[in-house]
Amino acid sequence: MSDTYTLYNKTVMDHFMNPRNMGDLPDADGVGEVGAAACGDIMKMSLKVENGRITDARFKTFGCGSAIASSSMATELIKGRTLQEALHFSNQEVVDALGGLPPVKIHCSVLAEEALKAALEDYVKKHPDSAAPESLRETVAV
Ligand code: FES
Repeated sequence: MSDTYTLYNKTVMDHFMNPRNMGDLPDADGVGEVGAAACGDIMKMSLKVENGRITDARFKTFGCGSAIASSSMATELIKGRTLQEALHFSNQEVVDALGGLPPVKIHCSVLAEEALKAALEDYVKKHPDSAAPESLRETVAV
């Protein structure tokens, strides 16, 4: 690999070059879209939820390679988690799973956390009678 890529480790490059779960979920239960004010990048996350658990996740990211790698990894990590667990998901998990990001690229992983939380909020708004945890309802204030 050329020196151009020395800022990024192999895991980051793999998720950038071969992103997992890219696209939309036509029958999504919750969709969140967020933007990073600093760079203008945009991330959209779609979730399928069954019995209080995330069964599928997809993303679309208009942004840098770190944002694409972060959203790819985030969708991999959150599949199978309960809504309660997803509510406590943090960008640090993405950074750790990617084996680290350069300090100037940490905000790209924050975008993945924010997109997930926006999708969870959308889920609760669209499913007011769901068994979403109280803490999630309080976050959304429905
Ligand atoms: S530079 Fe903005 S999300 Fe990566």
